[in-house]
Amino acid sequence: MASTPKNKSILLIITGSIAAYKCAELVRRLRETGTGVTCVMTTAAQEFITPMLMASLSQQEVYTDLWSLKDETEMGHIRLSREADFVLVAPASANTIAKLAHGRCDDLASTILMATDKPVIIAPAMNPMMWLNAATQDNIATLQRRGIDILTPAEGDMACGETGPGRMVEVVDILRHLETRFQFRDTLKGLRAIVTSGPTYEALDPVRFIGNFSSGKQGYAIATALVQAGAETTLISGPCHETPPAGVRITRVTSADEMLMATQEALPADIMICAAAVADWRPETVAPDKIKKGSGKPQITLVENKDILKTISTLTKKRPTLVIGFAAETNDIVAQARKKLLAKQCDWILANDVSPAQATFGGDFNTVHLLQSGKDGVRETSWPRLTKQEVATQLVKEIILTLKKK
Ligand code: CTP
Repeated sequence: MASTPKNKSILLIITGSIAAYKCAELVRRLRETGTGVTCVMTTAAQEFITPMLMASLSQQEVYTDLWSLKDETEMGHIRLSREADFVLVAPASANTIAKLAHGRCDDLASTILMATDKPVIIAPAMNPMMWLNAATQDNIATLQRRGIDILTPAEGDMACGETGPGRMVEVVDILRHLETRFQFRDTLKGLRAIVTSGPTYEALDPVRFIGNFSSGKQGYAIATALVQAGAETTLISGPCHETPPAGVRITRVTSADEMLMATQEALPADIMICAAAVADWRPETVAPDKIKKGSGKPQITLVENKDILKTISTLTKKRPTLVIGFAAETNDIVAQARKKLLAKQCDWILANDVSPAQATFGGDFNTVHLLQSGKDGVRETSWPRLTKQEVATQLVKEIILTLKKK
């Protein structure tokens, strides 16, 4: 694994969970890569590991008390909340997550979380029933909406003897996430990006439409990664249930025509990513009233929707520097995607297998082949099966590398 960049600092808030023992390894690994770590521990955290251990490993004072006259005189909780590059809460207990979601600050950790102006990353750890409890899930959704990174806990055997989701992600996963956040920070600052996402619905009558199963998860994950890299991002979203990432400008549309119009209005941009599953056809006419049964089989004539990706790729003025599409295929994936890359004249295509066996549509994973057109032809790279977040991270890394070279 590549190391976390040097000369960076993290404020690590440790809360009450048995996973607190993993913080010793986390701090040691971060220090090895030259990252400064300052620890804050809640009272509950100190039931599992000691401030002495964390002070020895971090080589820094450990802060535990909001009302410590000495600490407040020398550092102050507000300064503490602002000095590091990121605030990491690991492990994050159900209680701390609830306090953060509801704006409660009754100890040093929760007060820092309210006062910080730095990105917050949380690694929850708790009993499976506590994690699945509707209150926790609502709180997590609230935090996600506010732009807090959630390192979703893994499934497995828990220290409490139960099995299920709730185990804090491994130290190596936390390190990898921090490394990406550090790498991304402000790399695309000053650039504008547009992402289309989700399905489109094409009306048949006032109550029916033709649509598809796209969940919007991949497009939303890409918009999140672009924002984290500092790009001014507009997300043009078809109807879906995803939570818009904090910091993006969101334009909600229903039909392919509306998506095209919204995209044209959002230009100019440096980066355009068409992740939407745009309906290829729409009914030629939309019945003004509900189509009723009893008058024979309805005859619906379909007309083709304009191709948004091709329209943007072939602009003579205002063409974004990098235009990227997806190719949703069920067979001959790479060969079909190559044809699309040429036909649509975009710069890159991410070919993905959307056959039912892969459960890509609506699911959390994606298997992608990246086709990049260049001076020497088309370069093909196959990525392993990744989560949609990982695909987004990987894609944004490629974008950063390419735009830096230009
Ligand atoms: N796309 C678009 N506008 C359309 C249709 C597709 O912008 N009207 C974009 C998609 O967002 C995607 C790419 O084109 O980036 C390929 O979409 P896909 O559904 O895989 O292919 P189609 O062009 O629709 O062709 P086909 O359905 O025949 O595979």
